[in-house]
Amino acid sequence: MVIGQLRSEVRKQLGDNGHEADWIISHVTDMSQADFVLHPREVTDAELEEIKEIVKKRNSGMPLQYILGETEFMGLKFLVNELTLIPRADTETLVETVISKIGKKKLKVLDIGTGSGCIGISIAKLCKNTEVTLLDYSDGILSVAKKNAELNGVDVKLEKCDILEEIPEGKYDIVVSNPPYIETETIFSLDNIVSSYEPVEALDGGFDGLMFYRRIIEIASDILEEGGLIAFEIGYNQGEEVVEMLKEEGFSGVKLKQDACDNDRVVIARLKPNLF
Ligand SMILES: C[S@@+](CC[C@H](N)C(=O)[O-])C[C@H]1O[C@@H](n2cnc3c(N)ncnc32)[C@H](O)[C@@H]1O
Repeated sequence: MVIGQLRSEVRKQLGDNGHEADWIISHVTDMSQADFVLHPREVTDAELEEIKEIVKKRNSGMPLQYILGETEFMGLKFLVNELTLIPRADTETLVETVISKIGKKKLKVLDIGTGSGCIGISIAKLCKNTEVTLLDYSDGILSVAKKNAELNGVDVKLEKCDILEEIPEGKYDIVVSNPPYIETETIFSLDNIVSSYEPVEALDGGFDGLMFYRRIIEIASDILEEGGLIAFEIGYNQGEEVVEMLKEEGFSGVKLKQDACDNDRVVIARLKPNLF
């Protein structure tokens, strides 16, 4: 079958606008979308079989990122597996906020709950002077983050630490985190794709969804330099509570930022006074 015919066939089977169909074909054939048009060719039987298998899994509800084992975030490629959350476009707001604060400064950054490493690795890639540490609670998760650091050509440190039980080593200029923030009882009523495929440990923020914010704020003076910046991703309805928590603990410059859909998505604050 030629590529053009295959594209329309896969789109039809997926009921897709073309994005996923092209992604699958590109992944399997190693052709770019430009190649589809400029250098079309017949797909081999083996490629066709692989594509059929992927379409079958996709139509059973499995996210394409897990089927292909990869995704894109901040224009970079990241490997994902069942241990790691699929990076969300919303999280780019957090990364862009932190990057704008770093500029060209030489700073130490800790990414708590790094998962695939998408936040810390993007920061390391785009702010060459930063020294980034990626933290998560298991070796399996950190090995995905390590592969992603290598894939993106950045040198980062890795730290295994259960943030609810332990305090990370060292002090940082910036602590950034997209922690689990869904209320426990909401998790299993989420869109079934999320609750059946994504790791619950990456989602569960305790009874009120705020358990990780509470803990990170509690240990902030142990891990942040005075005047250092804390930057959290938050659920769209958690802004007020997280802002209040930070103010109560004496943080300064507490600010809420919105994502591309105008939902509250990021909170930043300083452990006074300003360091940079
Ligand atoms: C919402 S996911 C964020 C993943 C990634 N940073 C991103 O933005 O796509 C939360 C992350 O926190 C990690 N995590 C959960 N419990 C933890 C704990 N007790 N200590 C450290 N990390 C934890 C999970 O493994 C997961 O990678």
